[in-house]
Amino acid sequence: MSHSVVIVGASGDLTSRKLIPALYLLHRKGRLPSPCRIVGFSRSSLSHDEFRNQLAEAVGRHAGDQFTTEAWQAFAQQLFYCAGDIAQPADVARLQQFLTDLEDKANASRLYYLSTLPSLYEQALQNMGAAGMSHEENGIRRVVIEKPFGSDLPTAKRLNGVAHQVFSEQQIYRIDHYLGKETVQNLLVLRFANSIFEPVWNRNYVDHVQITVAEEVRVGRRGAYYDQSGVLRDMFQNHLLQLMMITAMECPARYEAGLVRDEKVKVLQAIRPLRGADFARDTLRGQYAGYLKEEGVAANSQTATCAVLKLHVDNWRWQGVPFYLRSGKAMSCRTTQIVIQFRPPPHLMFDVNARREMEANRLVLQIQPAEGIQLHFQTKVPDQGMRLRMTDLDFRFHREYTEPIPDSYQRLLLDAMNGDASLFARNDEVELAWGIIDPILAAWNSPAAPPLEIYPAGEWGPEGAAAWIRQQGRDWFDVCPVFHDVPGQT
Ligand code: BG6
Repeated sequence: MSHSVVIVGASGDLTSRKLIPALYLLHRKGRLPSPCRIVGFSRSSLSHDEFRNQLAEAVGRHAGDQFTTEAWQAFAQQLFYCAGDIAQPADVARLQQFLTDLEDKANASRLYYLSTLPSLYEQALQNMGAAGMSHEENGIRRVVIEKPFGSDLPTAKRLNGVAHQVFSEQQIYRIDHYLGKETVQNLLVLRFANSIFEPVWNRNYVDHVQITVAEEVRVGRRGAYYDQSGVLRDMFQNHLLQLMMITAMECPARYEAGLVRDEKVKVLQAIRPLRGADFARDTLRGQYAGYLKEEGVAANSQTATCAVLKLHVDNWRWQGVPFYLRSGKAMSCRTTQIVIQFRPPPHLMFDVNARREMEANRLVLQIQPAEGIQLHFQTKVPDQGMRLRMTDLDFRFHREYTEPIPDSYQRLLLDAMNGDASLFARNDEVELAWGIIDPILAAWNSPAAPPLEIYPAGEWGPEGAAAWIRQQGRDWFDVCPVFHDVPGQT
């Protein structure tokens, strides 16, 4: 059976920056099914060769030393282009004809990748349905839908409704690139392929969990999009909640899409809804200084570029253990990390000062960019009586494995082609996630909103966040990743 990958919105940034480099690298590794055609569809009028040449340049930039002219030429033979507007039924019908001809009217599996403007998703799906592009009599049909999946619960439900009129749930792959990160999948392995972590992974031993996705970048050229979206829609509804689900979920019986997603959904169902005074007490919002001057941002914008949420999971494992979720732009450094902060020992026989006593064990899962895991524990400082010091066991992927860590899209594209939806979001998951975010967004637009604190770029978000967590007897683990021995990083 041959394969076709059809990228709708092929002239966009994602195609040249992520999708085509990922497909090229998969081709180099011999992992793409053969034969495999990759068809770009967008409004620009381009010949096949113009499309290939444009992409050669971009892939050269993104694939680094993995790019060779020879390998590119072999790969580029599989690239095709069809010009048209996904919002026009006649153009979509033409795309369908183009694909049928290209596939030689034979059976072929198809993966459609919607990477167009999100405002066009519904129309795109409807037009694809009308053109018969979801019918499976000539091979499997699957569709990948890029984020954002809706902008709130009603729009996500409507999009799910339209998608289900055309494709069955089994054919739909809602992508969250965080799930394609090797270190996120490694969290599943750490938890469920080892026996020593699970027994302590609960309220008896864990004081709290911190999930931080800090970005050094500002909104840049995405000001117009970002100002409508803000950090809650852009990062929390998807990436932060995904990290939280993987951290908090129970072990599925098998690594199978349905079972993995059932367990993740149970975490969302157990998140305690915020009400009334909770919003002002358990959420913080900030905006970096200078945001209002970004291109596309409204002069008086109240959009949050950084947020902190304190969430609780009401189940036996996590009762009483707060999950602190934090993400922002223009922060000190780029780091995504999950900190499992354990409780201090119930009694300490050593005479240490109060500050040190707070330094209980910590497991730090470095998701990116210094991929690794550190376990922090107390040791005795030699030759200094009974002085204690926090030290760590330090695991780094790059030391253990020499191959470069692949970008998320390689894994996710291949999974979607192979029909493995374990690392994609299901309809109920997306809707439940909006159900958590929507009330916060509504509260932030009401008198119950916490103040919007302006923070200087290059810091760890609003200053108030540090005082706020300290009042709760805790501290942020604000440590930028150390790269002293990572090749190519300083
Ligand atoms: C995207 C957001 O989904 O994720 C961006 O829209 C953000 O605003 C990006 O910068 C972060 O992804 P990563 O993989 O660089 O952490």
